[in-house]
Amino acid sequence: MTTKQEFHDRMLSLGLARVSEAAAMASANLIGRGDEKAADQAAVDAMRTQLNLLEIAGVVVIGEGERDEAPMLYIGEEVGTGEGPAVDIALDPLEGTTLTAKDMPNALAVIAMGPRGSMLHAPDVYMDKLAIGPGYAPGIVSLDMSPSERVRALAKARGCAAKDITVCVLERPRHEEMIAELRSTGVAIRLITDGDVAGVIHCAEADVTGIDMYMGSGGAPEGVLAAAALKCMGGQIFGRLQFRNEEEAGRARSAGITDLDRIYTRDDMVTQDVIFAATGVTDGSLLPGVKREVGYLTTETLLMRSKTGSVRRMTYRNPSL
Ligand code: FBP
Repeated sequence: MTTKQEFHDRMLSLGLARVSEAAAMASANLIGRGDEKAADQAAVDAMRTQLNLLEIAGVVVIGEGERDEAPMLYIGEEVGTGEGPAVDIALDPLEGTTLTAKDMPNALAVIAMGPRGSMLHAPDVYMDKLAIGPGYAPGIVSLDMSPSERVRALAKARGCAAKDITVCVLERPRHEEMIAELRSTGVAIRLITDGDVAGVIHCAEADVTGIDMYMGSGGAPEGVLAAAALKCMGGQIFGRLQFRNEEEAGRARSAGITDLDRIYTRDDMVTQDVIFAATGVTDGSLLPGVKREVGYLTTETLLMRSKTGSVRRMTYRNPSL
């Protein structure tokens, strides 16, 4: 293999930041316009255009959907110039379409890249997720524990009471029982209406965000993106695919998954070093959103590499708009 074809994560990372910036800027025009589809489409178009400028032989493994349902950035689409290293791409051009349409916090443009074969080809089904930040022994919490057992285990590891722990959960009817059990332990619960990639990432900076643990079901593709982020920042995430019917199970089988009950760890979902970029679309606790001032747009991007654990926050001022 020539040097050119190796995965130069250091050099590629800056290019990846441009990709999430482009998606965020494009969808920013649609913030608060009540049109989720248009906001998503704008982000997809911009992300794809920018991604195709990168010198990579990329394949989308986590994308906008199966080829027959998503015309662009579908799973399996080849992206980049085709001239560089063979890489897997996981992306969500607009994580939080509803948040954007309603001008609510925490919408992001997100993308991760790793060597070919490094990321789980998660089908577009739900995933039961559990995440905590860095600094804990492996497996101190698990998906096989009940919500209250997880709280007790984390409190013991942190040396605090349950009431000192905050758990982040997507506010959904399917989580009502879990929320009731969590409440019985005395924990605080941060309910979010959407955006569980950001929800999980919050655990990695518990002292800043106040969130110690994430749990509940959300999109499996978002689970892989969150695993990529935690691989860079430290922290544990566990995920188990959930199938509502045989058709969904079939989707997993066609993606090559044979053990449908498997619990995936962070490093099962992302097996090699990755780079991860997220740009804020609307203001959030992780990143500020796109700001429009006379003559320019400003974005902020979180850019991370798992190889070094480096975390950059980059402000970009685009004077052309
Ligand atoms: P979209 O941006 O695709 O709308 O996803 C937002 C999101 O909240 C994800 O963060 C989360 O994983 C998923 O939707 C949860 O799905 P559901 O809304 O069906 O509970």
